[in-house]
Amino acid sequence: MAEQATAQIGVTGLAVMGRNLARNLARNGFTVAVHNRSPERTRSLIAEHGDEGTFVPGETIADFVASLERPRAVIVMVKAGAPTDAVIDELVPLLEEGDIIVDCGNAHFADTRRREEALRAQGLHFSGTGVSGGEEGALRGPSIMPGGSDESYAKLGPMFEKIAAHVDGVPCCMHVGPDGAGHFVKMVHNGIEYADMQLIAEAYDLLRAGLDATPAEIAEIFRDWNNGELESFLIEITADVLAHTDAATGRAFVDIVQDRAEQKGTGRWTVQSALDLGIPITGIAEATFARSLSGHVDQREAARRAFPDAGEKWQVADRDAFVEDVRRALLASKIVAYAQGFDHIRAGSQEYDWDIDLGGTATIWRGGCIIRARFLNRIREAYDEQPDLPTLLVAPYFAEAVGAGVPSWRRVVADAARAGVPTPAFSSSLAYFDALRAERLPAALIQGLRDNFGAHTYQRVDREGSFHTTWAGDRTESPA
Ligand code: 6PG
Repeated sequence: MAEQATAQIGVTGLAVMGRNLARNLARNGFTVAVHNRSPERTRSLIAEHGDEGTFVPGETIADFVASLERPRAVIVMVKAGAPTDAVIDELVPLLEEGDIIVDCGNAHFADTRRREEALRAQGLHFSGTGVSGGEEGALRGPSIMPGGSDESYAKLGPMFEKIAAHVDGVPCCMHVGPDGAGHFVKMVHNGIEYADMQLIAEAYDLLRAGLDATPAEIAEIFRDWNNGELESFLIEITADVLAHTDAATGRAFVDIVQDRAEQKGTGRWTVQSALDLGIPITGIAEATFARSLSGHVDQREAARRAFPDAGEKWQVADRDAFVEDVRRALLASKIVAYAQGFDHIRAGSQEYDWDIDLGGTATIWRGGCIIRARFLNRIREAYDEQPDLPTLLVAPYFAEAVGAGVPSWRRVVADAARAGVPTPAFSSSLAYFDALRAERLPAALIQGLRDNFGAHTYQRVDREGSFHTTWAGDRTESPA
């Protein structure tokens, strides 16, 4: 039973993420109250790691809350959805005005907005906080994306900034904005994560088909790429996974894993939200659909039987030039994914009045998180220099990288199409780029068709207003 309120922050939900966050806080000198529904987990945390800092274990939720200094700050680290609501419902009667509940799970931002509103009405703060970096990040320094009120950040900020990853002395944590802003930004982070991983997977597939190389040989190529502009956590672990040999069979690990990618839903949420906001995050959407497609085993089997011989044999004449083409195409496609992700954040920020700092977002993704990458520094510079940048693609560094990569990008996508190697994210990113830069789009014809069958009207290039043509009659045009 807690004697007095000494803990600066509490964590309830001590599965691996909650446990590691609590340990990170304690290791950084904060007194941390810890609680779990089944107290065995609390006890094992204390038994195994109690010497890492000052923990105050609470057997019951009431003990746990009583051990917290006011205003109380309680991190909830349980499964998103109903379990989060259940824990909040248990906590609320025990809390007092000004106390703060922090949801560090991958919650949907709409749920966070709902919860924040409901708790605000009861005088409580609710901070929906995105945390990225997996188990290791939670323990050694994640990227932290807190949403919620300024008052809640005044209490949480100093602690979170201390336990977050740091890059060049700058913490990978900032107050993202009110209510759902933190979880929204985390959601888009995950969408970009999906795109990044799909692009890497396509690059691997292209190298394997084009070079007829082994996974271990391709691991070396990724290792080499990690010394340049593509340097990132995901490229680094790609080399690791590709170089790994399965102990049971002696085969390349990547060849013994079922080729069906799963998801827990954040990529899907990103695409759903982008559809609502009208933002074409095509790379992220292709990546999300590519995971779904991989799981449709029966369709794949049927199609494989119906079309056994789909492409031409791929013959790469100059291996080094091909590898460089794939690298440039990967970089250009990756820039598209980030450009789309940042467009999405800007649109969400406008829609929900969050005033999210895009340069700041890039800053806090430089370390700790899954998509940490060297070029996030460039994104930060681009938005710092021009906060109203129309698209990341036209910022000088990215315009140059994409421009220099275009011939490679086209060659890779065209060769892959001829050889029947699927590149949904590479090719849709190239199509996005070409659509953005096109002088005229065939959208004009779509407007004509819409007016023809449904009198949906169109606008002219030479006059203001909306017009309709009487397609079924004398084809005269009239203002609509
Ligand atoms: C992170 C990750 C993490 C996410 C996994 C799983 O930022 O640390 O995004 O939050 O849970 O990547 O995502 P999927 O199971 O949907 O691939």
